[in-house]
Parts: sequence; structure tokens; C-alpha cells
Amino acid sequence: MKRKPLHQDPIKHIVWTGDRLQVLDQRYLPRTVKFVTCRSAAAVAQATKDMVLRGAPLIGCAAAYGMALAARRNKMSDVVSASLALRRARPTAVNLMHALDHMMMVAKTGPESSLSMRMAAAAVTYYEDDLGFNARMATLGAALLKKGSNVITYCNAGALATAGIGTAVGMIRAGWLAGSVAHVYPCETRPYLQGARLTLWELMQAGIPATLITDNMAAHLMKTKKIDAVIVGSDRIAANADVCNKIGTYGLAILAKYHGIPFYVVAPSTTVDLATKHGRDIPIEERSTQEVVEIFGAKIAPRGASAHHFGFDVTPHALVTAIVTEKGVVSPPNGVNLRKVLNRSCPTTNTRPQ
Ligand code: MRU
Repeated sequence: MKRKPLHQDPIKHIVWTGDRLQVLDQRYLPRTVKFVTCRSAAAVAQATKDMVLRGAPLIGCAAAYGMALAARRNKMSDVVSASLALRRARPTAVNLMHALDHMMMVAKTGPESSLSMRMAAAAVTYYEDDLGFNARMATLGAALLKKGSNVITYCNAGALATAGIGTAVGMIRAGWLAGSVAHVYPCETRPYLQGARLTLWELMQAGIPATLITDNMAAHLMKTKKIDAVIVGSDRIAANADVCNKIGTYGLAILAKYHGIPFYVVAPSTTVDLATKHGRDIPIEERSTQEVVEIFGAKIAPRGASAHHFGFDVTPHALVTAIVTEKGVVSPPNGVNLRKVLNRSCPTTNTRPQ
């Protein structure tokens, strides 16, 4: 099979025109490809809340553009209130807070009269930086895999979740090109089905051999098939290197440890939150129960059923083999090693006070 070049974007999922942000509506993928147009920071916040766009790095990039939209009248007060509204959109992915802190810093460094120009330029740079981070992590991560690996991935940590080729899926794509990935098993990822709907879609477009599994098949697969690695993204990494990611990641990490399979986390430095000391301090988003008892509007539980919907869980760093960032590989992951790698210089917008 002909292998597509690494950085070929399968679909333009976020388009900035200077006065609006067009976002591919991920709620309807893969059945329908349609876009939502955001002309204000409030619209970006709503799209983020509603999961029109999702994935930690993309949430950050969209927020940066939202701030640029808020700055169009060259009024600092507009920017400040946009920052507050966007911050409330989703609680767990720290890339959102990182992007807003960065954009507020840009807003404050210069006169109000040039706010619009400065913020638009900064948002584009923020997006382009994430694109570059993806590329670096893909190369660093792929080098960790042995030839012909069969890998499991979770949720969607691909192009749809970032500005570039993705975090976990970026590593998988680079591995596939280098011959170190042979086959991918994306878990479907209940309740939002990001694995089935989005990751599989991306992998198939890239021509990477992939077979979908339901979340509860992972243990059986690890026991009965040759699985060489589990590769996931992250929404927030605490100072002690505990990793928060999509609900179900923790269980997968325990399974990998039991079966002696390396468990890799791929995330840019914008996902690291040194201000949060321990994984248990990370706020876990709880979403509507409707998203659990219904799939695409069809009820799958009895009328009136109660259901939990935790969006994320935290994997203790002891279960993680390595964290791949754009600045280098943290291995074994712990607070000291994480700081060592983050302190390496690398061109980034990572200006959040740590
Ligand atoms: O609720 P979502 O779809 O925004 O959750 C996304 C994830 O958990 C991803 O794994 C994470 O953001 C890493 S994306 C590069």
C-alpha cells in the first residue's frame, strides 16, 4: 500500500479568515461533513462547550482565535470578558487556560490601538506552534517503537484534536511511515465514540491498517494478540507527571502494566500544568447523562435511567512508560524528569507561569 506523506492533512478542520473562524462540526462525523462559523469569542466558547470542536490542543488554538475575534474593536475590556467566557467553556483540558493566559499576555504588551492586529498575529502563531509540536513529537515518539508494532490507541488524539497531524495519532502516523507501526486498534471510546467516529476515520484516510475494538475488548486483545504498545494523548499533565485523559485511559494503563506492554503518552508542553501538583487535583469534567443514555439521538437505556458521565480520568505516572513532548521524552515520567525536559529550550508560545 502506498504510504501518504506524514503532514498531509486529510481535512481542513479549522479555517481562520481574519474576521471569522470556521470549524468542522465533529459531532456529526463521519456521517456528515459540515462547518460551523464563529464570528465572536462567545460563539467559539459555545462551539467548545457543545463539542463542535474538541481535543485539548485544538480547544487551545480555537480559544486563541476566539480572543483575536474579541480584539477586533481594539478594546481591552472586550478581550478581558472574552477570556472569562472562554475559560468557562470546558474545565479539564489545560491547553484552554494556557492559550488564554498567553493571549492575555500578548494583549497587555502593547497599546490598545494595535490590539486587533497583535492578537490576530498571536493566534496564528499559537496555531502554527502546535502544528510544529505535533511534527516533533511524532518523530520523537516513533523512534520509541520497535519494528512492526501492533498498537492500541484511545479516544481521538489525531489531526482533528490538534493543529497538525495529532499527538498519539501523529506518533502512529510517523511510525507507520517508518515501518515501526504495522497495525492499529483504536478503542471506540464510549460514550462519545471519538475512537470509532474520528480516529478510525483519520487512520483509514491515511491508509493505515486499523481494526476497531470496543473498549471492553482491550484486555482480551492484550492477552491473545501481539500488542506492542498503547499510545494515547492527554488533556492535562500534573506537576508529578500524572496524566489526565479521556475516561477509560486509566483502565487501559492498568491493563498494559499487567500485560507488560509499554504505555506512551504524547502531549505538547502546553498540556503540562505545573501549577497543579498532583493528578488528583485536576478538575474532571462531568457532562450530561443524555450523552450516555443516547447514541445519535437513539435511547439505549430505559427512560428515566440515571447515568454517570465523567469525561476524563487520571492515570498515575507509575503506569506510564514515557511522556513524549516536543521538547523531549520524559522517561520514566515523574516530577523531576518532567521539569528537566520542560526546561529545555525550544521555540514555543509556552509562556504560562509555571
Ligand atoms: O472530550 P474530548 O473529545 O475533547 O477529549 C479528548 C481527549 O481526551 C484526547 O485524548 C486529548 O485531548 C488528547 S488530544 C491530542
